[in-house]
Amino acid sequence: MKKTVGLFAAGALVVALSACSTGATPAGSGGAAGGAPNKALDQIVVGFAQVGAESGWRTANTKDIQDSFKEAGIQLKFSDAQQKQENQISAIRSYIQQNVDYIAFSPVVQTGWDAVLGEAKAAGIPVILTDRAVDSKDTSLYITFLGSDFVKEGKEAGDWLVQQYQGKSDPVNIVQLEGTTGSAPAIDRGTGFADAIKANPNMKVVASQTGDFTRAGGKQVMEAMLKSQPKIDVVFAQNDDMGLGAIEAIEAAGKVPGKDIKIITVDAVHDGMQALADGKINYIVECSPLLGKQLIDIVKKLNAGESVPQRIVTDETTFTQDQAKEALPNRKY
Ligand code: AHR
Repeated sequence: MKKTVGLFAAGALVVALSACSTGATPAGSGGAAGGAPNKALDQIVVGFAQVGAESGWRTANTKDIQDSFKEAGIQLKFSDAQQKQENQISAIRSYIQQNVDYIAFSPVVQTGWDAVLGEAKAAGIPVILTDRAVDSKDTSLYITFLGSDFVKEGKEAGDWLVQQYQGKSDPVNIVQLEGTTGSAPAIDRGTGFADAIKANPNMKVVASQTGDFTRAGGKQVMEAMLKSQPKIDVVFAQNDDMGLGAIEAIEAAGKVPGKDIKIITVDAVHDGMQALADGKINYIVECSPLLGKQLIDIVKKLNAGESVPQRIVTDETTFTQDQAKEALPNRKY
């Protein structure tokens, strides 16, 4: 009897292992569906591990995802990691234990995911990256990555600045407010911005520090920079919230944001757009938080056994002060 049970267990293990290899198909292969394809929509369960609630962007992203799942009638299990990787890893492990059909998440930082994503793969649960990428050599750990091109966003911010100072050789002192250290948007926006300004020796990033994508962080870092830097011409804040915090610090120091110090930000959430329309920010590169409907599309396709592209880039634009005035009345977030 024992032997029979033993043989069955061994057989089950083989079945389980072979299911793994098709359960989370490598993203590079065009990603066929895993999990339990062709379920009724209201039977599908998706676990979503969110970064936190650090910014207006994140709040809009969370709302859009929750609303989209409600509208589609697909079950959503949602967790907030409070910007801590260990919390996100625990949330993903708990989704694996609950045997959800899909796991979606926006990684707080780029590295350190191979172990937990390997566990999801072994359990046959396909993983969808939304908003931020992971830095892993093993692209079979996730099905697809849906989100912005952060390098392009940084480059567009830098290109605008270069254009503003075209034909001038006076020194331009820039301070950069970085997002969360180790996160994809902080790394990539920094790379794109540096690349855009590098051909202009008069443009120098004289200080660069993290404000963790929060308004309070942006304010605190800007206060310190205003004290330590004798001359600041430009602030590049890697998101609106840090830019809005910087505005408070600049005003408290008796300077006029948007005039004495130019400000460029990324996101284009409502408060950022209002500050741009009011002349306190000079330029915003959009980063769209509205990823919910595209995430639903991916889940539906995988459930139907269809393939999805390994990379889905979000459509985005840029805003000048005049464009912000025009766009604000119809802005949804
Ligand atoms: O990953 C997207 C970034 O994260 C947004 O630009 C920022 O506001 C958020 O916190």
